[in-house]
Amino acid sequence: MLRPSPRAWQDRRHVSPDGGRGVTTFDPFETGFDAWPYDQYRRLREADPVQWSELLYGWVLTGFEDVNHVLRDPTMSSDLERASASPVVDLFRSRQVERGDDALTLVLRDDPEHARLRKFLQAPFTARAIEALRASVEKRVAAALDALAPRGRMELVSDLAYPLPVAIFCEMLGIPDEAGPRFREWTAAVARSLDLVISDDDHAACMGLLGEMEEYLVAMAEAKRAWPSDDILSALVHAEIDGDRLTEAELIAQLVTLYVAGHEPTTALVGNGMAALLAHPEQLERLQADPSLVATAVAELLRYDGPNQFVRRIATVPSEIGGHTIPPGDVLYAGVGAANHDPARWGDDADELRIDRHDAAQHLQFGGGIHRCLGAHLARMQAEVALTAMLGTLPGLRADGPITWSGRTTLRSVASVPIAWG
Ligand code: HEM
Repeated sequence: MLRPSPRAWQDRRHVSPDGGRGVTTFDPFETGFDAWPYDQYRRLREADPVQWSELLYGWVLTGFEDVNHVLRDPTMSSDLERASASPVVDLFRSRQVERGDDALTLVLRDDPEHARLRKFLQAPFTARAIEALRASVEKRVAAALDALAPRGRMELVSDLAYPLPVAIFCEMLGIPDEAGPRFREWTAAVARSLDLVISDDDHAACMGLLGEMEEYLVAMAEAKRAWPSDDILSALVHAEIDGDRLTEAELIAQLVTLYVAGHEPTTALVGNGMAALLAHPEQLERLQADPSLVATAVAELLRYDGPNQFVRRIATVPSEIGGHTIPPGDVLYAGVGAANHDPARWGDDADELRIDRHDAAQHLQFGGGIHRCLGAHLARMQAEVALTAMLGTLPGLRADGPITWSGRTTLRSVASVPIAWG
């Protein structure tokens, strides 16, 4: 097969070879993929749940068992340095070198370095620490809805789903909330840069914005070093565990990760979740009638259309997966979004939204194994509070125009959800 050059192949203007009609290989350019990628995932799974992608130069996994296994398999690395050369890996690396980036974030490290970094970050995100914040988040959401209610309509993402996690995270971190509007651009750029396919121009623009964000965080860290207060950033700047400290570069890399992870996916959880409920009015009414279902509902919304679609791993030993022998150095894209729709795990109604699905919490949106999401409790708690408050205080909640999608493939999210009430 003729392989497109790595640059051309990463170009967003690329068009599906068959015009988007029922492809059976991974193709984010297929018509309709933005709005609903799960049909394509099903076709991929039915054709071969572990298949080589000529687009990604890696294996795309779409079955629950395989994805679950890869996430927890200690022979699977998160470190791109372990990958064999390929046009895609070379491109990722050259972009990293251009930026002088050492990939210091815990997300891209393996144990023991990963475990060392995670130890510095975990205390504020335990279930107990997050539950202690619930009442203040409820107050904040109630105040936001009080201000919005008289308007009778809002654009959910910009009016609530984005500002809420920003405000909460700024408060936890001890960073002024006024930086919020600028952070929107920064975090969106980093989220976009995670896409499996992104052109050089788009990537360069994202990296420029990331540079600005890092400068800001360096300045904030400096300020906390000089004037510590009772917040996560001060704690991180001064943290010492058994005589070990984070270097400045390590600190900034973890902050960027926390910041992006703390905002974009939570916004997407609330936004995608509400979009799903609006498309299923009977489920929305059910939740409105019985708010005690909210924890299960949020788990089901994560399963049904959560933000995270792919987690990358590198095989470090020869691995047998789905009847394929995968050599060390090959890249695997574990399709967590696809796995969450696998009928072999979820039954014939895998593509349906059922807010009382008893085992929905077994979804793979938060990954699994040593890299399991650190912010899972925080994201869930915010979504539970936001949905409960909206359904409880905005009578006759309904769609107020078409929903638009961000077009991102890794961190999938709605771009806008116009809603009205009253
Ligand atoms: C709905 C919201 C969220 C989703 C779907 C999500 C998803 C994920 C996934 C799949 C991973 C594993 C990545 C891998 O294995 O390579 C992960 C890791 C991580 N997440 Fe989240 N996340 C969410 C919200 C948050 C929030 C609010 C925070 C804020 C603290 C956060 C912080 C992190 C961190 C620090 C890691 C790296 C953990 C490690 O490598 O040990 N996430 N997240």
